[in-house]
Amino acid sequence: MGSNGSASDVKADAKQSLRVGVVGAGVMGSNHARVLAGLPGTTLVGVVDPLPAHRTRATELTGCRTFANLDELIAEGVDAVTIAAPTHLHHEIALACIAHNIHVLVEKPIASSVEEGQEIVAAAARAGVTLMVGHVERFNPAVAAIKQAISGEDILSIAITRVGPFPPRMSNVGVVIDLAVHDIDLIRWFTESDIVEVQPQLSSAVAEREDIALLQFRTASGVLAHINTNWLTPFKARNVTVATRGKYVMGDLLTRQVTECFGFKPDGSYSMRHLPVGHDEPLRAELIAFLHAVRSGGIPAVTGDQGVASLEIAIRCLETPARPAAAASARKGPRRVVG
Ligand SMILES: NC(=O)c1ccc[n+]([C@@H]2O[C@H](COP(=O)([O-])OP(=O)(O)OC[C@H]3O[C@@H](n4cnc5c(N)ncnc54)[C@H](O)[C@@H]3O)[C@@H](O)[C@H]2O)c1
Repeated sequence: MGSNGSASDVKADAKQSLRVGVVGAGVMGSNHARVLAGLPGTTLVGVVDPLPAHRTRATELTGCRTFANLDELIAEGVDAVTIAAPTHLHHEIALACIAHNIHVLVEKPIASSVEEGQEIVAAAARAGVTLMVGHVERFNPAVAAIKQAISGEDILSIAITRVGPFPPRMSNVGVVIDLAVHDIDLIRWFTESDIVEVQPQLSSAVAEREDIALLQFRTASGVLAHINTNWLTPFKARNVTVATRGKYVMGDLLTRQVTECFGFKPDGSYSMRHLPVGHDEPLRAELIAFLHAVRSGGIPAVTGDQGVASLEIAIRCLETPARPAAAASARKGPRRVVG
């Protein structure tokens, strides 16, 4: 896996200022612009969005210039862009940037299909530009603490819960592509292994697309993993537990409390401790890592191939046919919402 870079890397690199743009000024793109505007050694050249109201908001937030289309940004001259436009546009926008030898960070999921993702990866490789995928959860300090706690351990199983209420703006994807893809990436990253078996259970209780998913996996290394995700829970929860032969690690990704149980004794006793967890903003750490990879030419922290692999598993979850018994008992229609 590539180097994550750090704040000190950015300071050291700051002599070589990079001209960076953001494509898409919605929820994520606004955050990209806010963070990039404050990074040393980085010039935020501007933000692209077709919606005037979103351009105005970006200017108010960062004071940067805005453009109605990508060509105008490219004409200004940029070394790198982050792409936070809707997922179905990632392919077209990434290819256009790569064609101009611009380094690219694409938000997750990398694209709408595996084929589109592979085309982005191939184009970046041909052009020799850095391509990173915005799996920001890897930069959550609680996730980093879990990764460190299980390093060198014999991992047996992983369970991840990522639930919450419906997002205010419904996109055209369900919980598997929108939420579970984060955790598919974490399972692949924690185990450093590919997912080889997929057993999905999906349901649409309220939305057109799946809004509940219970996903089970087996990795090539033999780890069993489970994701519980939905948009039907009235509060947000993001929890990770990892069982290894020697430890049981529990992390709350929101409160950033990570605890490990270890030293299991035959009498059932064990030790427990809270692990130190950093305070970095995950998106800031991610963008620093991207710019570090651009400057160093090194392998980015989340490669295009890794982004494609996680998308491929998410799509497989959607395409795996329900067994006949499961299909027979599937919900006939959306649940009636009371009130
Ligand atoms: N890493 C994460 O945790 C995370 C969280 C949320 C969203 N995302 C990803 O970020 C991307 C954007 O999601 P969002 O929630 O910010 O969506 P959003 O709808 O809030 O924002 C998308 C923006 O892109 C703009 N846009 C549309 N067409 C464009 C074009 N041709 N060029 C430039 N901009 C264009 C829209 O006007 C809008 O402002 C998606 O791929 C999503 O999966 C990632």
